[in-house]
Formats: sequence, structure tokens, C-alpha cells
Amino acid sequence: MTTTLAKLAPSDDTITIRQLSDDPYSIYRRLRAEAPVLRVKSVGRTMLTKAEDTKYVKDNPELFSSNDPQTPMERAFLAHTLMRKDGAAHKAERGAMAPAFSGKNIKNCWQPIYTRIAEEFVAALPRGEIVDLYPTLAGPFAAHCLKHLLGIEEASDADMQRWSQVLIDGAGNFGWDDAPFARSDAANAEMDALFERVVPRHLTDPNPTVLSTMVNAEHPIAKSQIFANVKIAIGGGINEPRDALLTILYGLLTNPDQLAECRENALWTAAFEEGVRWVAPIQVSARLVTEDTQIRGYDIPRGETVMTVQASANHDEDLYEHPERFDMFRPKRPHQAFGNGPHFCQGTHIARRMLADIMLPMLFDRFPNMRLPDPAQVRFYGFGFRGPLQLPVILD
Ligand code: HEM
Repeated sequence: MTTTLAKLAPSDDTITIRQLSDDPYSIYRRLRAEAPVLRVKSVGRTMLTKAEDTKYVKDNPELFSSNDPQTPMERAFLAHTLMRKDGAAHKAERGAMAPAFSGKNIKNCWQPIYTRIAEEFVAALPRGEIVDLYPTLAGPFAAHCLKHLLGIEEASDADMQRWSQVLIDGAGNFGWDDAPFARSDAANAEMDALFERVVPRHLTDPNPTVLSTMVNAEHPIAKSQIFANVKIAIGGGINEPRDALLTILYGLLTNPDQLAECRENALWTAAFEEGVRWVAPIQVSARLVTEDTQIRGYDIPRGETVMTVQASANHDEDLYEHPERFDMFRPKRPHQAFGNGPHFCQGTHIARRMLADIMLPMLFDRFPNMRLPDPAQVRFYGFGFRGPLQLPVILD
């Protein structure tokens, strides 16, 4: 008689969320080499740090479901959003938003609007003095663009940023504390009230925005899901372009040779891709295991939650030499900053266009001598989402 011995992945009770927020990349480098499949107690999940494994998980949604009921996301959004659905249910809700993100709309509608918005923000920046580009540019620019895309121009940039952060905090509230949920409940009520107010305008005057596209569809999805998924876009469409912009600027300003060549040959898309590879704005994603399976020879039982660490995948030595360096001229390899599989970021092209085609060239055109007086002052932070906490530059 033969018995199959279960071989669970090793476990760790030393790594803390604090360490993962301060300096994740040195931890991930060690894990890729020593324990690429690791049950991390503080995170409560099996972390996968190799590019091959993170992509495999996201590309196989039947085995690795997005529908993980253990996460606080449903509680924070007061809804079961498209991000936590699989198969046909996910496809229907994603498809409802899709026309707003089409290439035609990006070119004819969002590109001109975003260019005008960028011009206003860049014109308002002070010349010749130290200015932190996080609160003055990156945050409000992302919020302002997003409210146009979504069809909720009535919201203030400050409200958009607050709602986004409150939803993120609620969705990440794994301690199930009351206070973050009280804040997300209040934000949900504010957003619902605003959406109710603007829907009649979209019904009488259909337009390419996300909200209008969904309410005017031939077979609209339920209103509660329309509202829930607009909130997903609010929670997921501000931090990432904000952090990506600051990260790319930091990468370029601390590598003047690359910046010079980038400007000379207008290589902004290459700078964008390298920036999001280097420090992925969304560092991790979770998936629920639906059947007993194995990864790298370890048993992964049904009901386990795996965490794909795309931040680590993007630094995998199998794909990248000196992955810790910002090098926009490194050989091209597909990165995973926008995810993979059916939940691949719906805002990818719009984010690329708003930063690589519009904001980056405009900033360096207006301020060709922009400089970062003290790079050591810039602190990157975050485990789930990551980016610089400030970017004090002199614009000239
Ligand atoms: C540099 C900017 C951005 C990055 C790096 C980024 C990254 C990501 C990633 C990694 C995911 C997949 C999460 C998972 O697999 O669980 C995602 C999903 C998503 N993103 Fe983005 N994102 C960015 C900008 C945006 C923008 C501007 C929008 C605009 C609304 C947006 C809308 C969405 C939506 C709706 C989803 C959910 C898609 C689905 O579940 O089918 N993203 N994003």
C-alpha cells in the first residue's frame, strides 16, 4: 500500500507586514531564492514570488478563483464587485464598462480631455521653488482625469482621493476593525447619493463615460452593480497612476543619462513600462484555491488563499538582470504590473496614454531643468499598493 505524504509549503512567522511595507524587495529577493512558495503567517496567505507562478495562477481562474469570501472587500464596498467574480458573471460586468475604455474613445475623447486637464495642472505649478509633486500634481491629476472618465465631474478632486483611500483602507482592513468600515460606509453613502444625482443627466444625454455607457446599455446590469463597479474604478484608478507617475519621475530624475536620452528620442512609453515594472503600484493580488493542487511540488489545498506577488515577479532574476535598477533600456520582457488573465487591468491603455503620451512629455517640456534636490528624502512605502510618499522637486 502506498500513502501519499502531504508536502505543504514551508511556513514563516518572522516576516511582518511592516517589513513588507518598508522594504519588500529585499525580502522578495530572498524568497525567490530560498522559498518561492511560502505560507506567511502575518499575511495569512501562501505567497508566490516567482514570475512563472504568479502568471500561472492568474491565467488559471478555474483553479484560482477571484471570489475569496475571506477578504474585507465585500464589506468595504457593501457589494460583490466585478473584481471578486469569475467566469460569465465577471465577463458580463467587465463587458458593461468596456466600451468606455475602447481605443476609439481614448483617442477621440479621453486624450483631448486629459491633455487639457494636464495643461491646467502643469500651468499651476510654481517655478524655481521646491514643490512636492504628490499633493500638487500626481494625486489631483489622477483624480481629475478619473472623474471625467467615470462621468462624475461633479465630485471634487479631494473627495475622489478621499473616497479612493477610504475604499482601499476598508478593502485592506484584514483586522476587521470598526473604524475603517465606518469610514467606508460613509463614503459609500456619499458616492451613491452622487451617482443617483448624475444618472438622469447621463440618461438624457448619453456620452462615452463609464457611468453613461453602463446605464444606457441595451441590457444594463443591475444598478447596484453599476454603482459598485464605478467604486472599483475609484478605488483602483487614482493611486496607481499617481504612484506610477511619481515613481517614473524619481527613476528618471535619479538617472540623468537615461532622462537625457528619453527626452531626446521621446521614449516616454519605455520610461513608463520600466517605472511600473520597477515599483509595481499594485504589488500583490489574492486568489482562492478551488481544488487541491500543487505548485513547485508543494501541496496547495483547496480553500487556501495564494498571494501572487507581481512586485516580485517583476524583479525575477530569471527575466531581469539587476532587477533593482531603474533601467529603461533593459531588454524588453513582459512585466506583470497590470496583472494577467481575465482580471487584467481595464485601465491599462488609458493609464499608459495619460502618463506616457501626455503628462511626462509635457512636464519635461515646460520644466526642462526639473531636479530632485535630495533623492534621499523620498521614501517609498506600501505592501499592497506602493509608491513614493513625497517627491519634492525644483521646477525650472
Ligand atoms: C499605472 C496604473 C495602473 C496599474 C499599475 C493598475 C494595476 C491593476 C492590476 C494589477 C489589476 C488586477 C488586479 C487583480 O488581478 O486582482 C487592475 C485591475 C483593474 N484596474 Fe487597474 N491599474 C492602473 C490604472 C487603472 C486605471 C486608471 C483604471 C481606470 C478606471 C483602472 C481600472 C481597473 C479595473 C476596473 C480593474 C478590475 C478589472 C477586473 O477585475 O476585471 N486601473 N489594475
